[in-house]
Amino acid sequence: RPPIDVDVSKLPPGQQITVVWHGSPVFITHRTPQALERLQQAALAARLRDPSSAALQQPPYAANWHRSIVPAYGVVVGICTHLGCVPTYAPTPDPATPVANWPGGYACPCHGSKFDLAGRVFIGAPAPYNLPVPPYAMPTPTTIRIG
Ligand code: FES
Repeated sequence: RPPIDVDVSKLPPGQQITVVWHGSPVFITHRTPQALERLQQAALAARLRDPSSAALQQPPYAANWHRSIVPAYGVVVGICTHLGCVPTYAPTPDPATPVANWPGGYACPCHGSKFDLAGRVFIGAPAPYNLPVPPYAMPTPTTIRIG
């Protein structure tokens, strides 16, 4: 199957889109400088359940703190690694239901798993693994080619 090209030139900072790739939702997020700062908070490290992304797809170009080719654009498969629900975009945490040190990201509506904007899962929820990073390339600075 051919790869799909996604033009992100019109995707504003702070916004996320979902595209379908091989029948699976893929989240593409334009992360703000503030969100990138939050991803690097030292306090997060102790809260990650799958810090090395050992079990699921993580291409070599995503083996970094932002889990992507360039920091500004996150690209992850939007299927919860617990039982397969589609997490909801929640770029900032809900003050009514705080999760220790969770900087916002994706929240699973089924059993409460929390992922940050790099798709990393937090301790205290059932999902065992980070959201996978699909195979992708960036043939231009604003084109994401998935597959
Ligand atoms: Fe996401 Fe259970 S399916 S927490």
